[in-house]
Amino acid sequence: MEKFYLTTAIDYVNGAPHIGHAYEKILTDIIARHYTQRCDDVYFLTGTDEHGIKIQKTAAEKGITPKELCDENAQKFKNAWKALDVDYTKFIRTTDQDHEKIVQHIFDKLLKKGDIYKHSYEGLYCTGCECFLNPKDLTEDGLCPDHLKKPEVVKEENYFFKLTKYKDAIIKHIKEHPDFIVPEFRANEVLNQLEDIQDISVSRAKSNVKWGIDVLGDDEQSIYVWIDALSNYITALGYDTENPSEDFKKYWPADVHVIGKDILKFHSIYWPAFLLALDLPLPKHIFAHGWITIDESKMSKSLGNVISPTSVLESFNLEHPDAFRYYMATSAPCGRDGNYSDDDFKEKVNAHLANSMGNLLNRTLSMLVKYFDGEVKAEFKGENPLAKKALGTVQIVKNHFDNFEIAEAGLEITSLVDAANKYVQDTAPWTLAKEEKMTECGQVLVNVLDIMCIIASLIYPYCPNIASDMAKQLSFDLKTKLDDLTADNIKCGKLISKEDIKPVFLRLDSELADKSAKKS
Ligand code: ME8
Ligand code: MG
Repeated sequence: MEKFYLTTAIDYVNGAPHIGHAYEKILTDIIARHYTQRCDDVYFLTGTDEHGIKIQKTAAEKGITPKELCDENAQKFKNAWKALDVDYTKFIRTTDQDHEKIVQHIFDKLLKKGDIYKHSYEGLYCTGCECFLNPKDLTEDGLCPDHLKKPEVVKEENYFFKLTKYKDAIIKHIKEHPDFIVPEFRANEVLNQLEDIQDISVSRAKSNVKWGIDVLGDDEQSIYVWIDALSNYITALGYDTENPSEDFKKYWPADVHVIGKDILKFHSIYWPAFLLALDLPLPKHIFAHGWITIDESKMSKSLGNVISPTSVLESFNLEHPDAFRYYMATSAPCGRDGNYSDDDFKEKVNAHLANSMGNLLNRTLSMLVKYFDGEVKAEFKGENPLAKKALGTVQIVKNHFDNFEIAEAGLEITSLVDAANKYVQDTAPWTLAKEEKMTECGQVLVNVLDIMCIIASLIYPYCPNIASDMAKQLSFDLKTKLDDLTADNIKCGKLISKEDIKPVFLRLDSELADKSAKKS
């Protein structure tokens, strides 16, 4: 594997980020970090989607310009990703000048090719979706099924894209590439939608939508959001219709677009069609994740239950985002909906990160100090009964990541931690010490510590800060590639002193956590 190019959806900036947006960026960051453990060149793109009627309207309500609204909110997204340790390579904004220019070129190229044509049209437009709806998809009361709002009747002369021209090619591609749409069960939905697709509007009259990219040579029309938004995946790399950049040649096609299930149609039908029209290769995978609910209900402004990711970090006084990242990433199986609740969050991270994983490291290092003054002797190293399971887990985790099964991979790591805990319970090194079987006692401790290095490596994408604290206490190099991992990681000699042993994760309701909460 030479490169790995992955992207998130770019978020609308008519509000601040919520934990649904955070879920997607955390998943993508975890995938990116996992692949840095497998290849040297990972490119991770995220950003914001800044044009369209929704933003124009929100700005007008606030009495500011659309650009002012975009600047203010784009910064909130950047701040949130920083707080969550979402370590992207590039943050694109669709108001970036180079993006706008290339989108105009793309539009112009498709117009000249005859794939875009002008057409008078009357349709039902949903501002929430930023798209025209098919009357047969509305609810019984004539509302948008996603936003439960009545769409506007829009009568305009617009530019249209010949989506129907590419219908058969897309159906063929989906059928021949069963892993194009992940999870696979969503591919059927897409094939059904393809049955009755029509050509789509790709511009809006400027008299109605002012906040958009101008169509070259037509000052009455602005480019409609989806062709603008989807193109970010190639404009970010410096694609241009005449002169594709070195980065574009190196990174395109994308290895995966990570998106939510609500925008799968745009990514698996519209985007492939635009790419085929541009004679460009299609992305390898489109991974549609599920939606996050709060206490089992849909997050919405009207219900007043929208949670910002940083408010979770603040209310639990978390030093770093690892617990939240871990919780979100393991909240739902691949492609299914997940849920956030405060109680469940506390319970799960206490159980997995504090009691099982953190405590195991802490106990084992403490015993090494107590019985051997922190020193690993040569006779402690040997056959490790946990080695097979640990190295097997590395392979299983890799396979899960190849299928974007992030929660499933997380469960495997937990199960390895459980196996190591059981081994300590079964061998009872404290009893061995009491019986003065010191070599055996040392062997057990070092066997566990060798496996803790593998656990640190596997948990790193989810919990980069905890992993780095673990690796430090184990003198283990976290940059080791997954394929170079062995079960022989702990070096002989003095490993650690008492004062350097630190809990890597404190229970959220522990005395210490309470104290630090009161302090700030
Ligand atoms: O759709 N749970 O932007 P957006 C999980 N600009 N994911 C959620 C979610 C939730 N509760 N709410 C939203 C757009 N998302 C377009 C994308 S891409 C070229 C253009 C996800 O701000 C949603 O599924 O409405 C989408 O993937 C992303 O957040 C941005 O949603
Ligand atoms: Mg949306």
